[in-house]
Amino acid sequence: MADEITGIEKEGAGFANPLRLPGSSGLFGVLPVSEFREVQVVRSEIEVLPGRRTPILAYAVESGGKTFLNPALLARRGDDMRVRLINRIDQPTVIHWHGLSVDSRNDGNGLNVVPPGGSMDYAFTLSDRSSMYWYHPHAHGYIPQQAYHGLASLLFVEDDDETALRKELDLALGDTEIPLVLQDREFDAQGRLLYAPTAAQSFGGWVGNRLLVNLTERPFIQAGRRIVRFRILNGCNARSYRLAFVQGGRRLGFYLAGTDGGLLAQPLRIDQTFISPGQRLDVLVDLREADPGLPVTLASLAFDPMHAEGGHDRGHAGPATPPMAGMDHSQHSAAPTAEPSTPMAMEGEARALMRIDLKASAKYERRMPTVLSSLPAAIASANPQRRMQLGHNGKGNWTINGGLFDPKVAALSVQRGARETWLIENAQLSMPHPMHLHGFSFRVIERLGSPALVRELAGARGLLPQDQGVIDTVHVWPGESVRVAIDFTHPHAGDQDYVFHCHSLEHAEAGMMLRYTVKA
Ligand code: C2O
Ligand code: CU
Ligand code: CU
Repeated sequence: MADEITGIEKEGAGFANPLRLPGSSGLFGVLPVSEFREVQVVRSEIEVLPGRRTPILAYAVESGGKTFLNPALLARRGDDMRVRLINRIDQPTVIHWHGLSVDSRNDGNGLNVVPPGGSMDYAFTLSDRSSMYWYHPHAHGYIPQQAYHGLASLLFVEDDDETALRKELDLALGDTEIPLVLQDREFDAQGRLLYAPTAAQSFGGWVGNRLLVNLTERPFIQAGRRIVRFRILNGCNARSYRLAFVQGGRRLGFYLAGTDGGLLAQPLRIDQTFISPGQRLDVLVDLREADPGLPVTLASLAFDPMHAEGGHDRGHAGPATPPMAGMDHSQHSAAPTAEPSTPMAMEGEARALMRIDLKASAKYERRMPTVLSSLPAAIASANPQRRMQLGHNGKGNWTINGGLFDPKVAALSVQRGARETWLIENAQLSMPHPMHLHGFSFRVIERLGSPALVRELAGARGLLPQDQGVIDTVHVWPGESVRVAIDFTHPHAGDQDYVFHCHSLEHAEAGMMLRYTVKA
């Protein structure tokens, strides 16, 4: 462990690119939802690798004489979103507001899409708890490519709990409260994004070898000796991380303050956590606990990604597999033009994500709050209980209850206002699946059959620290069964159609999605 951390710190010591932070315009510029009425999906170009231009897809907004790309949207709970999406690219697309409880049409779940040159009007009220939500494309058949090429950004909803926390800890977005969008990418020699999954990667999931944070490679920031808040999104197509803050060969303790759907009741002291595609974590790090003479490194620690899908369908290599043992494990086999010096991409590898240099700062005497918010009790009603069996059909498709996604057919229907518990069961010979529900956030009640790497971090009923929060995406490991409680109460008129899918985007494209109806 100490060797692993020392290696990570050595890697982080070489990071020399200032982290891209949300500013007042441009890429990730902060924009209140009340200050724009139109968003265009466009082709654009940014500099990711120093000195090279990378073509991307982006959400472009003009507001107050300024141009925003992938704006970080800001809203107060209760605000209205009124925006026209204009599709200026040559593929269908649609915006999905990940984590928000809105009606089926405004959810942008892909049951309706916007053709090239077309537009769609969104109109809804942001009624969810304060949290960092996000938005990304959801036209089935195009989701992994479009998200990978840049279509993704953040949406902050604030309420009174959030305002109180900011005040109590003296936090300012972009300075002492820092959003971190984690993404893995591959580039060709010209600096263009490379996305060319082989059949095996289309099944197993695409992982890239460059670990970007806010579209910055090998980033660093400076931070004072105070409590700093990180709001972290896993925006990868398929890679999960085992996050830790490390310094001087050891892990630092920190606090989990919130999950996908907002603040926890109280901060939980942890020293590592998994984060999977689609998930968000709200984290408080008290840098007064760190040694002032050394940098702190945000790391992904090594773990066994448990890719035991069996047969020759293996998607990408885990550390347990020698790099050259397989025929098509390497991204480079699909990518002859990639730069020769880049190491092969492997999920579960120990890597530095960002270096944090500690700087002298004004005296800071705030303390970690003991209460953050109040959460409704998670109600585990026994009935009706549904089983969601995750598996694959041996032909390159992932399945839910044996079925493949059919956008025309509702695979199940639930009654509006019902409180259901679902048992999501992953097969033993499988891959981890971050399962995401549209329309309703939910609570985790129990984990059964968890692998050792999860049990180590778990408490009562097998629950992980992030299972204490309101979530919209639950990571289900091979062999694991996770019981969740969902409250299907909503204020919208009429039947509502949503989807439930794996947020490993290639898995969803390969069938692991279902349509469900909430009957009025
Ligand atoms: Cu973030 Cu259906 O997706
Ligand atoms: Cu979603
Ligand atoms: Cu999956």
